[in-house]
Amino acid sequence: MTDAPLVLGIETSCDETGVGIVRGHELLADAVASSVDEHARFGGVVPEVASRAHLEAMVPTIERACETAGIRPSDVDAIAVTSGPGLAGALLVGVAAAKALAVGLDKPLYGVNHLAAHVAVDQLEHGALPEPCVAMLVSGGHSSLLRVTDVTGADGGVDPMGATIDDAAGEAFDKVARLLGLPFPGGPHIDRAAREGSSVYVDFPRGLTSRRDLERHRFDFSFSGLKTAVARWVEARERSGEPVPVADVAASFQEAVCDVLVRKALDAASSEGIEDLLIGGGVAANSRLRHLAEERAAKLGIRVRVPRPGLCTDNGAMVAALGAEMVARGRTPSSLDLPADSSLPVTEVLA
Ligand code: KG4
Ligand code: ZN
Repeated sequence: MTDAPLVLGIETSCDETGVGIVRGHELLADAVASSVDEHARFGGVVPEVASRAHLEAMVPTIERACETAGIRPSDVDAIAVTSGPGLAGALLVGVAAAKALAVGLDKPLYGVNHLAAHVAVDQLEHGALPEPCVAMLVSGGHSSLLRVTDVTGADGGVDPMGATIDDAAGEAFDKVARLLGLPFPGGPHIDRAAREGSSVYVDFPRGLTSRRDLERHRFDFSFSGLKTAVARWVEARERSGEPVPVADVAASFQEAVCDVLVRKALDAASSEGIEDLLIGGGVAANSRLRHLAEERAAKLGIRVRVPRPGLCTDNGAMVAALGAEMVARGRTPSSLDLPADSSLPVTEVLA
């Protein structure tokens, strides 16, 4: 596939400085510098700290990606960058770097949507995307169900079916981990702790699944009630003087999240007669979510695609993958006054 476009993608929407290089669906380099350790003591990402870290990491990460891919920057056919959604200051660093490269190398620039990039990345592992598919994106900042007919967004190709009405799924993992005294970001720690615990130890609430809620919020999520329920349970336990069974609470909480996510994602696919479900975003790295989705989907004849954990969390390869798709499908590049848009709607895949 030597004709496939060679694209360099830059991601800086949160705390990962990612530079990826792809040739069509082939991953050549995925260099990531994370500032997560600098945020850990604050229990969440501090925007100013993230922006400064992107600034420091940008050039070395671009160099590392080019070295790994064995290319010179001038070899690329296009530059892609996350233009939103995300932290405004953090996005700006990536957008400015991408513009500088595009101008300096005289290459087209594609400002792309971070959420669609979480979908497109799967092509690097499993080949061409099944379209239509239902994509469930679950990360620290987002939880949404999308009907995807064209991942580049042409003709309403990315259509939102539902989203969280309060906390994102990853945010719930991070907050509950904090309650349980586990480090930030909490998702991987809960995942690990849960392996030693019982998922039926506490019957935590499943948000927006009652018959009444389903009438208005069939494909929407809510995790803030669950988070409060875990907090109350842990407080009551602490008041009683008994130790908190961390593994059991982690497993029961994780089960409540995964149960709702999988139920709603499969309902969305079934309701549209769609046979492919794609799961992306940081929470898609969760082992229980992957297992439960595959188990239940198989019974419905629905195929599930989940990229490997390293491609689920934020990275530059996902941006390059979507950029390559833009080139391959002949989409018009972005203009050089491309803005960083912290609240870019999911329907706007190409900014
Ligand atoms: O996609 P991502 O890297 O960044 C955002 O765009 O938000 O997602 C980060 C989120 C964090 O909330 C983190 O706790 C969660 O993904 N996460 C996990 C796992 N690995 C990362 N949540 C549950 N289980 C995991 N194994
Ligand atoms: Zn993300």
